[in-house]
Amino acid sequence: MGSEVHTSPDDGGSIPLLTPFRMGPFHLSHRVVLAPLTRSRSYGCVPQLHAALYYSQRATSGGFLIAEATGVSDTAQGYPHTPGIWTEEQVEAWKPIVQAVHNKGAFFFLQIWHVGRVSNTAYQPGGQPPISSSNKKLSGKARMPSGIELGDYSEPRALEIDEIPQIVDDFCLAARNAIAAGFDGVEIHGAHGYLLDQFMKDSINDRTDEHGGSLENRCRFPLEVVEAVSKEIGPERVGIRLSPFGEHSESADSNPEALAVYMATALSKYHILYVHYIEPRVKGSFIEVHTHDTLASARKAFKGAFMVAGGHTRESGDEVIESDASDLVAYGRWFLANPDLPRRFLLNAPLNNYIRETFYIQHPVKGYTDYPFLEEMEHLPKL
Ligand SMILES: Cc1cc2nc3c(=O)[nH]c(=O)nc-3n(C[C@H](O)[C@H](O)[C@H](O)COP(=O)(O)O)c2cc1C
Repeated sequence: MGSEVHTSPDDGGSIPLLTPFRMGPFHLSHRVVLAPLTRSRSYGCVPQLHAALYYSQRATSGGFLIAEATGVSDTAQGYPHTPGIWTEEQVEAWKPIVQAVHNKGAFFFLQIWHVGRVSNTAYQPGGQPPISSSNKKLSGKARMPSGIELGDYSEPRALEIDEIPQIVDDFCLAARNAIAAGFDGVEIHGAHGYLLDQFMKDSINDRTDEHGGSLENRCRFPLEVVEAVSKEIGPERVGIRLSPFGEHSESADSNPEALAVYMATALSKYHILYVHYIEPRVKGSFIEVHTHDTLASARKAFKGAFMVAGGHTRESGDEVIESDASDLVAYGRWFLANPDLPRRFLLNAPLNNYIRETFYIQHPVKGYTDYPFLEEMEHLPKL
């Protein structure tokens, strides 16, 4: 149902977003990517079978999907019922979900994640403090493991220099496990103020060792993760998400442009598959502001495939592809609410609105797999 996007010079062929793109070993039939979206429906950190339906609804032949942020270890979690990939049980639980996506002919990457200080001791083994680049506590409130109560973010503990290789290993294990579960690759979560971003951003990182101070030092640990994960599963199976201009979870940087270009240049040396930047206009997870900043210099500096996300519509996505500002466009909220988004773009059909209230609830169907396909909308003719 709605899983094919047939393009030809007469229809999708003239829609830039719906043109094919070869990304390393992956022959994509179009450029409308499912952005990673936390849905908080993986009870006890174990992905559930309802995710097989959710992801397969959004899969198209030759499409590219990125699964939600998934913890690399038992210290990586900070939100209710988000999945993990560090145990055998979790790997097994992912398998039918990946299979369901592959059955539709789509490519599926897993976003691997460590929240760092964006956590509470209730999520941590033995109630320890969460880890970070620094001891600086995050203000605001954390959603507690029940998914209902709110609590403070706990004061983090700055990682000792000799503990860093263990976290690099955790990312490697997660990547290896993702491949074992059948995923085509991983997207390293280096965005939105989580652990890797906590090292990159100078409003957080106050270290005086080789992981603090200069851009080279602040980016050292994220690049060590990239290098190690690339060695583990092959660079053609590795992407990374970055939000140098973002301020999610108090993660501003004093020179985001320099950070964006430094990372794009450094990442090119590892020959990874793609880099996925959040548009500079997006400051929080999805709060947009007016800005003249662009990703043009980062685009120029990076040698692999380029993906952007943040506030894109069909029109802006087409513009980005047509002007060669990016190779791919990831859609979050519109794809969440429109399982057949590429097809709706093809037909220029109206979109279902997204319902914010059900983004993160634990219900296995509501706000998750019950957004209608075009055919199911009574006021539209059957296609
Ligand atoms: C419900 C929800 C969950 C999200 N979860 C993640 C996540 O797990 N990982 C991530 O990198 N970004 C996450 N984001 C950010 C999206 O991937 C995307 O960058 C953002 O929604 C902006 O794109 P959009 O305007 O197309 O929605 C989330 C956003 C939403 C709305």
